[in-house]
Amino acid sequence: VRMTVLGTGIVGQTLAAAFVQRGHETTVATRDVDEALRRHDFGAWSRQHPDVAVVGVDAVPLDAEVVVNATSGAGTLAALDAVGEPALADRVLLDVANPLDFSAGFPPSLSVVNTDSLGEQVQRRYPRAKVVKSLNTVTAAVMVEPGIAGSAEHTLFVSGDDAGAKDVVKGLLVELGWSDVIDLGDITTARGTEMYLALWVRLLGAMGTGHFNVRVVREDDGRM
Ligand SMILES: NC(=O)c1ccc[n+]([C@@H]2O[C@H](COP(=O)([O-])OP(=O)(O)OC[C@H]3O[C@@H](n4cnc5c(N)ncnc54)[C@H](OP(=O)(O)O)[C@@H]3O)[C@@H](O)[C@H]2O)c1
Repeated sequence: VRMTVLGTGIVGQTLAAAFVQRGHETTVATRDVDEALRRHDFGAWSRQHPDVAVVGVDAVPLDAEVVVNATSGAGTLAALDAVGEPALADRVLLDVANPLDFSAGFPPSLSVVNTDSLGEQVQRRYPRAKVVKSLNTVTAAVMVEPGIAGSAEHTLFVSGDDAGAKDVVKGLLVELGWSDVIDLGDITTARGTEMYLALWVRLLGAMGTGHFNVRVVREDDGRM
């Protein structure tokens, strides 16, 4: 799969490295290539991953089949606007962002809640993109190596309007090592996983590590 990852933070780095390692042609896009490469963390990461191209958000490849939104929640719509409709229409848009607002410090609040979500805002802004919300409920390292959150099977969620796009994402999740994936339904179900961050950040505070996840235990512990 040809992939473009938007964002040069820890999530963008972690996902791009995992996808290129699994044989996907992967490009990372940033607002300012020179500035990103000057940043110590991303510059070092990029030197270690010469097979991942780094481009400006206004120059993403038009032939990518999957675009991953790994930008901050506050920057998401601006980043997508810079990418533009031609690179987003008819693509799978895997949205891992959370609308966290750190302006009052820790814990962050959510800038979109209850009757709306960042996933829905993205879908409304780009109706032709096939938005799938997933991976936003675990920390970056766990996204690509579920086992570090614990040896028991634990649960991930997908939300989105397009069944085919969710199948593409579920396939990528299997490649990353996920086996228990619950399809919550359409993109409005992203409200639940985004608002779960209110609990996630408190678990982080209580446990002092982000290497955890939830497991949905069902009757007879059967799969949905
Ligand atoms: N950290 C985690 O473990 C984790 C886990 C689950 C979900 N998430 C979510 O994943 C996303 C990425 O998280 P992160 O921790 O890697 O980094 P982050 O600090 O939340 O986001 C960094 C990225 O956002 C972009 N960005 C920031 N403001 C922007 C703006 N105004 N316009 C365009 N782009 C902007 C930056 O792009 P440039 O490259 O152009 O500077 C940078 O690449 C966030 O939405 C976060 O909530 C994070």
